[in-house]
Amino acid sequence: MTPSDLDYQRAVDLLVAGELVALPTETVYGLGADAANPAAVAKIFAAKGRPADHPLIVHLAGHDAVDHWAEQVPDVAWELMETFWPGPLTLILKKQAWVPDAVTGGQDTVGLRVPGHPVALELLRRFANVKGEHAGIAAPSANRFGRISPTTAGHVAEELGERVPLILDGGPCKVGIESTIIDCSRGEPVILRPGHISPVHLEAVLGRQPAVETAAGAPRVSGSLEAHYAPVTPLRMVAGERLLDFINAQRHRGGKCAVISANQPPQAGMPHAWRLMPADPVGYAHDLYAALRDMDHAGVDLIVVEALPADAAWVAVADRLRRAVAGAGQA
Ligand code: TXA
Ligand code: MG
Repeated sequence: MTPSDLDYQRAVDLLVAGELVALPTETVYGLGADAANPAAVAKIFAAKGRPADHPLIVHLAGHDAVDHWAEQVPDVAWELMETFWPGPLTLILKKQAWVPDAVTGGQDTVGLRVPGHPVALELLRRFANVKGEHAGIAAPSANRFGRISPTTAGHVAEELGERVPLILDGGPCKVGIESTIIDCSRGEPVILRPGHISPVHLEAVLGRQPAVETAAGAPRVSGSLEAHYAPVTPLRMVAGERLLDFINAQRHRGGKCAVISANQPPQAGMPHAWRLMPADPVGYAHDLYAALRDMDHAGVDLIVVEALPADAAWVAVADRLRRAVAGAGQA
């Protein structure tokens, strides 16, 4: 799963030429372009079918590049970088004046992240060797707009096919859901998108758990749109205690359903397909998008997800599933 020297070379050549390259990160696969080249960045929006006012995350090889992209970086942001980079954390900071509107959606802030995947880092380093030490790769998740984020190179090919000239294969993504996004541009840090790095992790640095502000502010964060991460097949959340009745009713109606659950299937009323998920939130997040994608291909009329535990450890997974439910069935 390690790209060859030639693969990296081709990827850098494409990026320098203003073309797109799909790259693995530890969270999900990204669809990358030279972040300083607005024409290249425009190709990302075209390939995804994404509205142009949605800002992108700029991926950097290291902390040293931050000042090139952001100004007035508060101390707390530096502390977060020291602790969590390379890793699944994106910081929203006041942008430098030169940063293209194509990247920021015309806002006065920019999202920055040093990813924790060796292939992404190697590509970023090689790109920076050619373009200059502060070079960045703008990359949203490499899926069509609103759809399920890709966690393997095969998923990217399924989503974008010929629209992307090169997909670097770095194996399955370790984290499986997108980075935690923290806005450090307006005083107290606020979580705009929950992720693998949780409020509890952040408390160790910030001294308190930051507020979560996921619903407000759309479309500043496209991940905050109500409908997102969605399969084509309709999706329902059903409480565990109602699950068996629900499946049986569905079957009597002649509907085929698939279930995603952290529990074993009941003997009676077996649905068409049952995807057994890890019972812990980190494992569940890791498998989530692949499970949604598999069940979307299972030839069923309905995907049923057993409702998740309500506690804080599940917020990131619950956030993705809630939006998947809202966006599902809109082929
Ligand atoms: O884990 C990730 O973050 C993945 C990998 C590829 O790095 N990327 C990702 O990108 O999830 P995307 O575009 O699917 O989601 C990035 C989110 C979007 O919801 C976008 O609106 C938000 O980051 N974002 C980027 N710049 C922003 C800004 N200046 N202010 C507010 N939100 C911003
Ligand atoms: Mg996305």
